Amino acid sequence: MSTSAREASRRIPLAMVVIRPAKLFDIPEVMRIERESFREAYPRGIFLMFLENNPETFLVAEYNGKVVGYVMGYLRPDLEGHIMSIAVDKEYRGNGIGSALLSEAIERLIKRGARYIGLEVRVSNENAIRLYERFGFRKVKRIIGYYSDGEDAYYMLLPAEEWRGS
Ligand SMILES: CC(C)(COP(=O)(O)OP(=O)(O)OC[C@H]1O[C@@H](n2cnc3c(N)ncnc32)[C@H](O)[C@@H]1OP(=O)(O)O)[C@@H](O)C(=O)NCCC(=O)NCCS
Repeated sequence: MSTSAREASRRIPLAMVVIRPAKLFDIPEVMRIERESFREAYPRGIFLMFLENNPETFLVAEYNGKVVGYVMGYLRPDLEGHIMSIAVDKEYRGNGIGSALLSEAIERLIKRGARYIGLEVRVSNENAIRLYERFGFRKVKRIIGYYSDGEDAYYMLLPAEEWRGS
């Protein structure tokens, strides 16, 4: 991103960004952001099923009536709160929206009994890894060939007792 584009994209006051549970009508915007953010996209049915099963931990960030980011978290039976996906609209990155989404998802998962928060991230995704490390996540394992294009993932974990809020 050029310096001026970065400056322009950093004018969003976080106080005007609302983090709220996703609704059915948000799914097309969530899918748009997912498609521009990832090489592999989930089919619509996955989002619908996820929403039905995890209505409190599938969250969107809304700014001026527009969905600008989302996070999909769920509680596994082994009490790991797992972050399945998180992305922010390219135009709105670097404003703290990703951090706000992640923070709210972690809070909600811990309230529901999560002992750890876990996620997988591409080893090349330095921005996301830095964000997670700032939250206290640590790389605990490298999963060889985790992604369909052969790239490895880091499995990262944050113990609930180490979470003090962002
Ligand atoms: C990872 C991702 C979700 C982060 O979203 P984001 O909204 O840009 O995240 P934040 O703004 O909270 O933090 C990003 C950076 O902006 C900085 N920042 C936060 N608030 C800021 C503000 N108000 N003004 C300026 N900079 C700010 C942060 O310090 C951070 O910098 P860092 O590079 O040192 O970590 C986003 O980059 C994205 O969608 N990436 C593509 C999808 C992806 O990779 N998802 C993760 C898959 S595991």
